[in-house]
Amino acid sequence: MKPLSRRNVLALGGLGVAGTVVGGTGLLWGWNSGTSPVAGPKFMEPQLLRSANGRLQVKLEAAEGQVRIAGRQARALSYNGGLPGPTLFVRPGDRMNVTLQNGLSAATNLHVHGLHVSPEGNSDNVLVAVEPGTSFEYEYLLPENHPPGVYWYHPHHHGMGADQVFGGLYGAIVVEDPNSIPVGRERILVISDISLDGSGRVQTASAMDRMAGREGNLVLVNGQLTPRLNARPVERERWRIINACVSRYLRLRLDGQHMQLLGMDSGRFASPKDIEEVILAPGNRADLLVTTTAGASILRTLPVDRGASSGMMGGTQVASSGADLLTLDVTGAQGAALARVPAQPVPSDLRTATVTARRELTLAMGMGGGGMGSGGGMGSSMMRFTINGNPFDPSRVDVKVRGGSVEEWTLTNTSPMDHPFHLHVWPMQLTEQAGRPVKGVVWQDVVNVPANGSATVRISFDDFAGTTVYHCHILDHEDQGMMGIIEAT
Ligand code: C2O
Ligand code: CU
Ligand code: CU
Repeated sequence: MKPLSRRNVLALGGLGVAGTVVGGTGLLWGWNSGTSPVAGPKFMEPQLLRSANGRLQVKLEAAEGQVRIAGRQARALSYNGGLPGPTLFVRPGDRMNVTLQNGLSAATNLHVHGLHVSPEGNSDNVLVAVEPGTSFEYEYLLPENHPPGVYWYHPHHHGMGADQVFGGLYGAIVVEDPNSIPVGRERILVISDISLDGSGRVQTASAMDRMAGREGNLVLVNGQLTPRLNARPVERERWRIINACVSRYLRLRLDGQHMQLLGMDSGRFASPKDIEEVILAPGNRADLLVTTTAGASILRTLPVDRGASSGMMGGTQVASSGADLLTLDVTGAQGAALARVPAQPVPSDLRTATVTARRELTLAMGMGGGGMGSGGGMGSSMMRFTINGNPFDPSRVDVKVRGGSVEEWTLTNTSPMDHPFHLHVWPMQLTEQAGRPVKGVVWQDVVNVPANGSATVRISFDDFAGTTVYHCHILDHEDQGMMGIIEAT
């Protein structure tokens, strides 16, 4: 069987060559994201909508139609006709109102990934279903002490998540810093992947794709292929990067430039960390500072081994392939002198907290069993995706927690494939991964649980009460049942 890592291969064989000859006017999509630099289009960002006087009112219409992807007209899903959807800029303490209009032919809903807001009612409630042709009014109240950072929004209707995100439904949310960080320029990079067929339509996933977690042939930055951006030497830029891919892990490098990580997800380090590369599982975000040096550099994602699929696949290797993402051209006179990055508020550390409850959650993949409650119409011979033995059932509460408690969760993965574990509403402090204690204070809302391995997190269930979910953020796995319900009282 063909390995799932697809490196720099033409997807449609001979047609791919024709596609490159036809060039910009052709409708053929017969190539993949490659690893040889091309002079791409000028870098663009989605429309930016900023709150004013503590309010942001947005209308998002999810629909299928003509969308510009990789410089061409494709037929895909989008919010308000753009891919990605608009970037939402808010501040701690703001009220954000979103009217979601469903112009799709299937049910959908909206999730504000990583925001620390109520999961109840018309707030971040992923158990709401918005039927085709109807709309829903969401309202999110950000607490005054909401952590600044980069978040995102995407649909979360069980059984439809992977198709709808892969099809093009996602956008960035930024919670601004109360004390801004001095930089010459801020950029948003929404990284997503998609596969388009010869006529520019989104390819449907096979059963095998769904088992491994589908990865697209095109890896896009703000809907573009290898865009080009310019800067002057000795400038400091801030790049907020979102991994909006359904299943692809990103291992990002920008050789020749100085990268520092301010934080991941809602987490922030006390001072920026010098890094050579950063790995983002699906759903993770990186808040980066880039200090420029003259020359041309390529932001790349390198291949990531994510284990093997089991059972009938006979242990086929599963890996995210590498791709070039963008070119940064640094030329001209030096930029202005840089002010120091102010010290960041020291993150809280639960390693010394009193743990009030401990739990184990076991992520597993197994054969057959009739696919009870596991959505997506999978046959009985298909893989079951479970947490603590059960596929998702919205009517069953799997975990009950008490408000004010601090819990320690040991996440165990008995399958031969990595699973990125995500919890809504409450961030997780990662204390141990793959048998090793984690150094420093690391807060994330998606934590990788390695194949046949484990990760340990601590969670403080402060403020919000209500019912929400935790799940694998390979959305194909979530759709097939690797999700549970948590109720906080
Ligand atoms: Cu980004 Cu429950 O999801
Ligand atoms: Cu989420
Ligand atoms: Cu998974």
